[in-house]
Amino acid sequence: MNIDTKINIAAIREDFPILNEQVNGKALVYFDNAATSQKPQVVIDALNQYYTHTNANIHRGAHYLAAKATSEYEATREAIKTFLNAESSEEIIFTKGTTEGINLVAATYGRKFIKKGDEIIISTMEHHSNIVPWQMLCEEKEAILKVIPINETGELDLDAYKNMLSDRTKLVSIVHISNALGTINPVKEMIEAAHQVDAVVFVDGAQGAVHLDIDVQALDCDFYAFSGHKVYAPTGIGALYGKKAILEKMPPYHGGGEMIKEVSFEKTTYNELPFKIEAGTPNIGDVIAFKAALDYVQGIGKAHIAAHEKALLDYATQQLAAIEGLRIVGTAKEKASVISFVFEDIHHADVGVLLDNQGIAIRTGHHCAQPLMKHLGLSGTSRASFAVYNTQEEVDQFITGLKKVIKMMRG
Ligand code: ALA
Repeated sequence: MNIDTKINIAAIREDFPILNEQVNGKALVYFDNAATSQKPQVVIDALNQYYTHTNANIHRGAHYLAAKATSEYEATREAIKTFLNAESSEEIIFTKGTTEGINLVAATYGRKFIKKGDEIIISTMEHHSNIVPWQMLCEEKEAILKVIPINETGELDLDAYKNMLSDRTKLVSIVHISNALGTINPVKEMIEAAHQVDAVVFVDGAQGAVHLDIDVQALDCDFYAFSGHKVYAPTGIGALYGKKAILEKMPPYHGGGEMIKEVSFEKTTYNELPFKIEAGTPNIGDVIAFKAALDYVQGIGKAHIAAHEKALLDYATQQLAAIEGLRIVGTAKEKASVISFVFEDIHHADVGVLLDNQGIAIRTGHHCAQPLMKHLGLSGTSRASFAVYNTQEEVDQFITGLKKVIKMMRG
């Protein structure tokens, strides 16, 4: 099979300086993109540029640098609005990442609107960050957490989901693409069903925003969260989309500067959206570099990136499936570029270390999805995940590396 996509991978690889690193004396093969992706030079330059030429606090100062920093910071909000096709930039809240987006909604919308006996629905394949905040909320409110089952290929049981929905369901929070299985969930259909019982829907887009074109208006989701660092931006920065009407009735998250209109010791009135939900000095430089990453992605074209990653996924799947004693975990019809696998006789931790010795970076373990692993009867898997700069040759190196691991372990 040949990877025949419309992008110039050699040129793209030159944009990512870290790909020239040697690891354990070998050229790096970076297949841990679902954990975090590498950064193109334009993102590194944007950060450097900010601290060299712009650094100032935003929305406050009356001086040149403050105005410049503010306008660059707000340009990222506009870019995210376009990236998600939100109706307005007031619907875009900066966060530290997807985890904070989920915690923010649980702590604000959840605290205000979830009551005793209400039901919140998540699924078996959720990341811990889309389980624990809802569990904490349910504990506090005496609400009930319900879990959508999955089938043996790693797809959600949609009939079971629809049967769970009732007038007690107040919130559904679902992952767009599973970080552990690669399954792409039919979120649009799930949102429609949830809206029929007037439940709001939160979509965890940590992987979804990387691999799919996101249109929050077409999806009609109430919230969508993603992280910058998986879309080639720095770590510690992310975005939460929320429908304006919902954000307006939500209480603020943190109290402090920025989020207020007027403060007295008797009473505080809050700023307008989105600032009401953004207290304190934010991560300005990284937000500005976030735009450079989104521009970079849009410059290549998300559809081209997705086609390239899908070709790598199909190729790797075919190669892995031919290895004796190896089982791919997660074989949904709709999958993004994440491939989890286990050996019947070799522990995933050994696979990770022995590949690392050959310069090949993958993730092993439970992938922050312990309940999913428990459901699958596994302690963990080995996971390779691909990005725009990965190549068919790297997949070949990975397969050769795995064969060496097998030889070492099986003798
Ligand atoms: N959630 C990230 C992963 O799947 C960290 O690796």
